[in-house]
Order: sequence, then C-alpha cells, then structure tokens
Amino acid sequence: MSILTDEIQRRRTFAIISHPDAGKTTLTEKLLLFGGAIHIAGAVKSNKIKKTATSDWMEIEKQRGISVATSVMGFNYGDYKINILDTPGHQDFAEDTYRTLTAVDSVIIVVDVAKGVEMQTRKLMEVCRMRNTPVIIFVNKLDREGRDPFDILDELESELKIAVRPLSWPINIGAKFKGVYNIYEKTLDLFTPSKQTVTERVEITDIDDARIDETVGESDAAKLRDDIELISGVYPDFDVEEYRKGKLAPVFFGSALNTFGVKELLDCFVEIAPCPRPTQAEERQVNPEDETFSGFVFKIHANMDPNHRSCIAFVKVCSGRFERNANYKHIRSGKMMRFAAPTAFMAQKKSIVDEAYPGDIVGIPDTGNFKIGDTLTEGEELHYKGLPSFSPEMFKYIENTDPMKSKQLEKGIQQLMDEGVAQLFINQFNGRKLIGTVGQLQFEVIQYRLLHEYGAQVRWEPISLYKACWIESDDNEALAAFKKRKQQYMAVDREGRDVFLADSGYVLTMAQQDFPKIKFHFTSEF
Ligand code: G4P
Repeated sequence: MSILTDEIQRRRTFAIISHPDAGKTTLTEKLLLFGGAIHIAGAVKSNKIKKTATSDWMEIEKQRGISVATSVMGFNYGDYKINILDTPGHQDFAEDTYRTLTAVDSVIIVVDVAKGVEMQTRKLMEVCRMRNTPVIIFVNKLDREGRDPFDILDELESELKIAVRPLSWPINIGAKFKGVYNIYEKTLDLFTPSKQTVTERVEITDIDDARIDETVGESDAAKLRDDIELISGVYPDFDVEEYRKGKLAPVFFGSALNTFGVKELLDCFVEIAPCPRPTQAEERQVNPEDETFSGFVFKIHANMDPNHRSCIAFVKVCSGRFERNANYKHIRSGKMMRFAAPTAFMAQKKSIVDEAYPGDIVGIPDTGNFKIGDTLTEGEELHYKGLPSFSPEMFKYIENTDPMKSKQLEKGIQQLMDEGVAQLFINQFNGRKLIGTVGQLQFEVIQYRLLHEYGAQVRWEPISLYKACWIESDDNEALAAFKKRKQQYMAVDREGRDVFLADSGYVLTMAQQDFPKIKFHFTSEF
C-alpha cells in the first residue's frame, strides 16, 4: 500500500455536535484523555461559551480567540490519526458549525438522556442529512435520572429522521444505573461512579451468562434480557454500510463525565467510521488518493487582537499530500502562493508542519487573501462546493456614521463577509445595504470589528423581516412579474442573485401559492 493510501486509511476526521449542555465538551475531553492528548480532565474548557455571556460578546470572542488552538484537535489513538473539529457551542455561531460540517467525514451527536433531542441538534442533523454524513449517537448522562431508553430511541428516529440501532444498552438509569451491556462486543461494563476511572469490564460469553445475574442482580438481568430480545426483534442487525451511507445511526449509552461508555464508543468509532471520502468539486469528484494536492478553506478565524490583524484560514486537505513551501494555486485569484508557516493542530498545540494528508486540517496565516470556500490546488482548475449559506433570519440596515470613512467601511464589510461572519444583501428598492445573520451577536461583532479593525463607524437600523430566500424561475416573464409585484422586497446577494425578503411567514406562504412558477430556495446553493 502506498504511504498516501496508508495515511488516508488511518485518518478519522469528525465533529461532535450537540445542543448546548448535553456534554460535548466533556466527551471531547474524555476522548482526548484516551488519546493521551491531555492528561487531566478540565483541560478543554476554552471553547465553551458560557450562557451567561450572551450579551457580553467581547468575552465570547476572547474565549473564541483562545479556542483557535482547540478548533481542531488531532491525536493518535492506536494506529489511527484522529482529528476532532470543534464547533462553537453558542447557537449564534451556528453558521460556523454548518461550515465545519463540510470538512468532516462523520459526526458524533451527543444527546442528554433527560432532555432527548433538542432544537440545535435537530438543525445540525439537517445539515448532516443534506450531505449524507454518517452519524453515531451517544446518549449521555445515564448517571442522572432520565427518560426510558426505548423512548429516547423512538425520539431519535422521529426527530432526527434517521434509522437507529442501539449498540449498547443501559442497565437502569440514574441512581440505580449499573452499567451497560455492549451489544456490539457482547461484554458487560459495570458502572463505577467516580470520575476519571476506567470502566470495570466483566467478561461474559453471551446474554444468558449467569455472571450477569451475579453482578447486577436477577431482576435487572432478566429485564436486560427482555430488552435485548426486544431490540433484536425490532431493530435490524447493524449494517456498517448503511451507517456509512448516512442511513443508519448506531446508538451508545454512557456518561461522559464518568468516562463511562466513552472508550467503547471510541473503539467502535475508529473501526466503523469512514476515512476521508471523495469530495465533490464542480468539475469532478476528487478522490483523496489522487496524487496531487487539493483542499478548500472552510473557516477563517480572525485574530481579535487589533495589533495583529491577521487571520487563520483553515484548509481541509482533500487529496494528495500538502507540503510546506510548495507552490499552490489559489483558484479564485489565479495566484500561486507558498506557505512558509502552515500549522497543524496536535494535542491541542499549534505547531508548524511540513506535510499533511487528506482528512487533516492545516491552518494558514492569512492577511485577507482567503474567502470561505476557496480552493487550493497544484494547478488544476477545481472549485470545491462549499456549504451553502442558509437563509438568515435576522436583518438590519447598516448605516455609515462617518462619511469620511466610507472606503474603509466598504473594505471592512467585504472582508467580514468573505470570512463568513454574516451575509450582505442590497435592497433593490432603496439601494441600502442589509446585513443578515443567524444570531443577534453577529451585529455586535461586526460593529466592533469595523470600528477596531477598519476605523469605520456604523449604526444599525432595525428592519422587521421574517426570512430572505433566493428565487429563480425557468419562466422569465413570471420572474419579472414577481419582481415587479414585490419590488419593495427584492434584494440581491453578493453574487448578484435575486433574493426575496419576506416580512412574515404568511407573506412567504402566500407568495409561494400565488407564484407557482417561482422557486423559493432557503439555501444559497440550488
Ligand atoms: P456542552 O459542551 O455540550 O455544552 O456540555 P458540557 O460538556 O460542558 O456539559 C454540560 C454540563 O453537563 C456540565 O456541568 C458537565 O459536567 C455535565 N455533564 C456532562 N456529562 C455528564 C454526565 O455524564 N453526567 C452528569 N451527571 N453530568 C454530565 P456544569 O455543571 O454545567 O459544568 P461544570 O461546572 O461541571 O464544568
């Protein structure tokens, strides 16, 4: 096997997603502990944005600043090289998370056993479904009182719209929680309710083994056998191919805080999760094994220190071998570039790397050359398809309050939009600039950064809108008629595409009914 194939096959690049507080940070930390990337619990707090800080975004940015190092956490586990891509916990940064999901090959979803499927998880799952990303579900906090596991399975299936298959099964829950039966490996793991201890494992031959009765008691053993029988009756056998197609999600139960069920999850994960997969470019599908390097920028992280106005562009390597100081083509500008100080992220540390392989993320210091979605290659004209922008749901007009600085403002807005902080629309009726975001915080971020990085002062003018959606039609006349009728509500995005600004859900529904020849799109790629 070539070195390239070997490196590809041992890589597992994934993200952990959850609703805030379900246990993503804790699980990440425990995985890093197993990988030897950190040595004490409590080391991965930096990317957790505290709920209390919602109005204090400077604090959030500080935390985000620190979090550059934890944006990607690479470590070795056995023969595997694992890259965990962190996603911001705060929902106002959901766009960041969506984009990060373009760079992963699979996902682990953490669900709180008491709360079940929550809003944020549902939204993120939609993105996974769009891309057929394989998901594994970890039901967390079994040491606390929670819902019946069968209920949780039903909810996962109906709310996340994916078939599920439990690969482990809890014995009781909360105060009576005794452990899990590992269906995948046919072992019994007993619960030791003290942090940072490794699970005690009881070797058994099968579910009828008398040692189960001896360790958990007869009635719990009987209940476990009933449950397992029910499971094998109701759920089809686990099929790894179905999982890799994104059609079936294996489910594990455990307690991240107690490091319980985590190793089992990790061991199964490295075995079944896909290695880097082909990536679709506009021109062709690119295989990781292709000899020539290619990659794309999925995230740009600005340095909040006004004295060092630089960014880090995060490049996902899609094919070939990335090398330091090699000449690569930046497709959008057509320029050749060399990167003298690319960084890799290993064990929470950033360090300069000489090479990287498909599945790896390389951080490239940038001073405004990169835009989200940009492709780098050895020369071939390839354009990777980024994740589409989603219809924003919050809008404000942006107003210049210092006419002497309009040039700076223009540059600032363009660069922030390139970084993907928010979306810019021009209202076609009044020519005004409209900024659309998914969260309130972005407005504060934009205002602050325009002032501190570009010296431009702006104020916001509220506008009440429900949603912006991209429209198109095969019928030019119908399109023209729509645009005429809705002229006060028409805008264009940065690519000049038509966008309809619906001021209420009702108006949008009516528009869809009244103009059947018009297609309304809620993501920017269609
Ligand atoms: P998040 O990144 O998804 O937002 O969640 P995080 O890991 O920070 O976990 C949220 C809270 O849930 C934390 O408590 C954490 O200790 C707790 N937790 C995580 N896993 C488990 C578990 O298996 N069992 C129990 N009982 N609790 C769990 P906190 O009080 O908010 O934070 P901290 O003060 O402990 O850091």
